[in-house]
Amino acid sequence: MHGIRKRFYSTINNVLVCGSGLMGRGIAQVTAFSGYNVTLYDIKQDVLNKALELIKDNLNHSFNKQLNDKTKAVEQTNKTLARIKASTDLNSTFVASSPDLVIEAIIEDLEAKKTLFAHLDKIAPPGVIFASNTSSLSITDIASGVSRKDNFVGLHFFSPVPIMKLVEIVKTEHSSPETAIICKDTPGFIVNRLLVPYLLESVKLYDQGIASIKDIDTAMKLGAGYPMGPFELLDYVGLDVVKFINDAWHAKNPQDPMFQPSQSINKLVAEGNLGKKTGKGFYDYTKKNKL
Ligand code: 3HC
Repeated sequence: MHGIRKRFYSTINNVLVCGSGLMGRGIAQVTAFSGYNVTLYDIKQDVLNKALELIKDNLNHSFNKQLNDKTKAVEQTNKTLARIKASTDLNSTFVASSPDLVIEAIIEDLEAKKTLFAHLDKIAPPGVIFASNTSSLSITDIASGVSRKDNFVGLHFFSPVPIMKLVEIVKTEHSSPETAIICKDTPGFIVNRLLVPYLLESVKLYDQGIASIKDIDTAMKLGAGYPMGPFELLDYVGLDVVKFINDAWHAKNPQDPMFQPSQSINKLVAEGNLGKKTGKGFYDYTKKNKL
């Protein structure tokens, strides 16, 4: 126990990020930008390649803006990229990178997350901190199969990760005070607990014919000062992600009218229209005029 506690206080140098989708690649980018060594793990090589390309472009953009010097920006981008290793082999990656912290950002599926953490628990030395970036699942449930429950927290980032300044740190009743202190393990934590009902309510307004997608978005941007309207944000976050959250909360609270499944979202997801990432969601991004 003493050894474990000592490790809590030791500096984190190496971070393993599991999952290289929208969130995982953003987390890897900001972590490397902040000076940590990062290993980005994914089961798909093509997704990893794409993530590295996007990270490179984003870093280059940020450094260009910060330094106002193209040559220096390329230098800094390459220096930061050199801190990111990408791999599809979890076991050998783990040994080679010796992470102090693992951040999971894979598919929003409880069983998939539990399976990954059960495996990590076997190969990670005691004291390695495990964190999940889940948007909606209970951290306690995700951690239920691991032995290191005191070293398990939620680290909830927001999209786009390099721009949004908040990270929710979520503790369970088992998390040690040295590991986390901020928010209780409650569905949606703080932001999604408020944001997701707002998004779902917007879809209901549209489904009931009360206003058009464009008018609802314009109203919230001009009337509430939000940078994106709810439908732009739904498409941006991904309709599959929002459906996962909606379904999980509906399963837990089947009587709550707030979380009744949304026909519009289910239909779009069934058609493979997941939002901006697939080119179509509530808006059609393949057209010049989105609607
Ligand atoms: N990655 C990195 N940088 C990005 C980016 C991305 N995906 N998208 C935009 N940016 C950068 C741009 O490069 C630009 O940087 P610059 O000022 O240095 O040039 C800056 O962000 C502003 O971008 P734009 O000028 O193109 O566009 P906007 O001014 O409209 O800003 C936005 C874009 C920052 C995405 C803004 O619309 C916004 O804040 N939207 C709301 C986002 C939000 O609510 N996120 C939370 C989602 S909920 C969530 O993630 C939780 C999860 O569990 C579901």
